[in-house]
This record gives sequence, structure tokens and C-alpha cells, in this order.
Amino acid sequence: MKFKATPYHSDLLKDNDRLSAFFEAIEEYGGNTELAYDLGCGSGILSYFLSGKFDEIISIEIDKKSFNCAKENLTPFENIEVVNSDVLDYNFTEKADLIVCEMLDTALVDEEEVPVLNHARKFLKPDGKIIPQGVINTVELVSLERHYVHWDEGVNYDVLSDSVVYSEFDFLDEIDPYVEVDLSIKADCDGELNGLKITTFTKLNDSLIVGPLPMLNPPLLIPLEEKQIKVNDLIKVKLKYIMGNGIESIQAQYY
Ligand SMILES: C[S@@+](CC[C@H](N)C(=O)[O-])C[C@H]1O[C@@H](n2cnc3c(N)ncnc32)[C@H](O)[C@@H]1O
Repeated sequence: MKFKATPYHSDLLKDNDRLSAFFEAIEEYGGNTELAYDLGCGSGILSYFLSGKFDEIISIEIDKKSFNCAKENLTPFENIEVVNSDVLDYNFTEKADLIVCEMLDTALVDEEEVPVLNHARKFLKPDGKIIPQGVINTVELVSLERHYVHWDEGVNYDVLSDSVVYSEFDFLDEIDPYVEVDLSIKADCDGELNGLKITTFTKLNDSLIVGPLPMLNPPLLIPLEEKQIKVNDLIKVKLKYIMGNGIESIQAQYY
């Protein structure tokens, strides 16, 4: 099936590993199949995956151009209703068996996954499920070339530590969007420390975890004040940000 999409959603459609991961998670879903919500449906591709499984799918998209594409793509499917709305303003009237919400980005800082799920979770049945199910965030010490917050999209940097898990979220739980963590990371070589690298792993379901993919959570690089470090030094950094409030909310400093 050929999908009409905006340039951004076309790039999403070209990331085969991203699509296969979501396809597999939806195929493996084993709960009730009366109603599913696809929140932020974009081109509608995930609603299309849901269409053979659920009696009814409500697909909500805030962006008018993307909504128009999804509406056209999903016209042949009588069990899908496509709605042009901000999820936060949508008048939910029924509880769903499954919520699919892919407003993901590294550390969930720049997209609205957390505020949207905190709002929509009350419209999930008690035994309902969410895809993806959650995320795991890791951090490493790095030496960066660029001294501003940026994504790892073909840039150079040196890694100066092992990767440390600093937070994990289950999307079925209410999530506090305010993140404040005291990191304590051991350097594994000498070097010029001036940044952190955050990597987010997406838990699609109990058995499927995907690492960063070209169009799914490229690692985030965050500058720190420059510091010469030696192997085995314990580096203490306070990391703060607000999930859903953008990369401008990120603060990282030594403590
Ligand atoms: C990463 S894209 C994923 C789209 C879709 N899953 C796909 O594969 O094409 C996230 C989508 O969520 C939409 N979105 C973001 N915030 C939203 C909100 N508050 N309400 C509805 N849609 C939203 C964006 O416009 C975007 O199309």
C-alpha cells in the first residue's frame, strides 16, 4: 500500500527498522481488541497496522497537513476514524484496550509523549496496554566538538565512560515530567570532558526493546563545562530537564 505523507513522515516511513519494530509489537499484542487509540497518528501507518486487529480505531493528529494525509490513506478502512485535534483537547468518550502513542524522542524531552500519556491514560481500560510500553535512558561522559545541545546525527565525539542507566519509565504509570538526577559516573580513560551523551532505548513490549534508529531517538549530546579528567575519576553531574518542554529546559552542571 502506498502512503501519502509529509516530508517528515516520509522519512519516518523509510526507517524500516522503526516500522518493523512497531509492526511486531502490534502483531504480538494479545489483549482485548474492541478499541485502540493511535495518538499522533502522522501518516496513519500505525493505524493501518492496527486495522486488521481492532473493531474500532480512533487516530488523532494535531498537524493539519499530516491529518489530511492520514485521512486519505485510511479512507478504505471503515473501522478507522481520523480526527484533526490536539490530544490534550480531544473529548475522549470511551476507554480503549490499547493506546499507541509514538511521540518519542531522546529522554522524552522534546516531544509530548509524557504530557499526552498523562492526559490520555485515564481513557485506557484497567487491563489496557500502551505501545510503546516505556523507555530506558542511559548516559555517558563525552568529549564534544559542538558546545550546544544537539543530536547525534553524523557528528564526532569521544566517549570517556561506560554507559550508565539513569532512569526508566513504564508508560502505564503516571509520570512526573520534572527530571532531576544526581549522576555519578566513573571515567574509563583520561580526556577532556565537556559533555554528556544520552541514549534512549524504547520498550515496545515485554520482549522487544529497540535502541536508537535513524528516525527513532538519535542520542542527545549535552554540553558541560570543560574539565580534564583521569581514568577512574568519579564525575558528579546534576542533570535537569522537563519532559515535553523542549531541549531548552535541559541543564547539566557539576556538583
Ligand atoms: C513521531 S510522529 C509519529 C507519527 C506516526 N506514528 C507515524 O509513524 O507516522 C509524532 C506525531 O504526533 C503528532 N503530535 C504531536 N503532539 C500532538 C498532540 N498534542 N496531539 C496530537 N498529535 C500530536 C505530530 O504532529 C506527529 O505527527
